[in-house]
Amino acid sequence: MDTIKCLKSRRSIRTYLEKDVPDKLITELIDCAIHAPSSCNTQPWEFIIIRNKETKEKLSEAHRWCSFIKDAPVVIVVCFDSNKLNLSPSNIATTSVAAENILLAANSLGLGTCWVYIKDYNEPEIEQKVKNTLSIPEHINALCMIPVGYPASKPTSKKLTEIEEIIHFEKW
Ligand SMILES: Cc1cc2nc3c(=O)[nH]c(=O)nc-3n(C[C@H](O)[C@H](O)[C@H](O)COP(=O)(O)O)c2cc1C
Repeated sequence: MDTIKCLKSRRSIRTYLEKDVPDKLITELIDCAIHAPSSCNTQPWEFIIIRNKETKEKLSEAHRWCSFIKDAPVVIVVCFDSNKLNLSPSNIATTSVAAENILLAANSLGLGTCWVYIKDYNEPEIEQKVKNTLSIPEHINALCMIPVGYPASKPTSKKLTEIEEIIHFEKW
């Protein structure tokens, strides 16, 4: 799929067909993620691939906005290693661009995804819950989870802010 078309057609998908997503496609998503730019080329990201039903159910209880992830065939938890990049917000920005690559690559492959937050400085217990569930070590941060599956629905259209309202030329 053409890059512009791919990024303009990406939407959050929260319902999935009962059809497996092969490992080969998941590996391709991760390969796309690791081609992202990273602060000082630190590449601090780590990925946990989850197919186990009980684990997905536990993760889907992390907060009130993620119950649907238990129905996805695969959930990818996107993390970063503080020992590789301990500069905030660069570590979050770097890991976010890798996560966005996953969303875009999935769209290009006909897969549906949704960014589901984990790291929230106002509610640190959410990340701790996920870290406990997945035995994630202290120096690893869990940023977000990405359910992956074949879309079972089409999202309704979304109104975008007019470009004229948010674009500034030369000065604010
Ligand atoms: C940082 C971030 C956190 C998000 N967290 C959640 C979440 O926890 N649960 C959820 O259902 N969607 C979450 N989303 C998805 C947004 O709700 C979605 O991107 C937004 O409504 C726009 O819709 P679209 O992705 O279809 O364009 C998150 C998106 C971002 C960027």
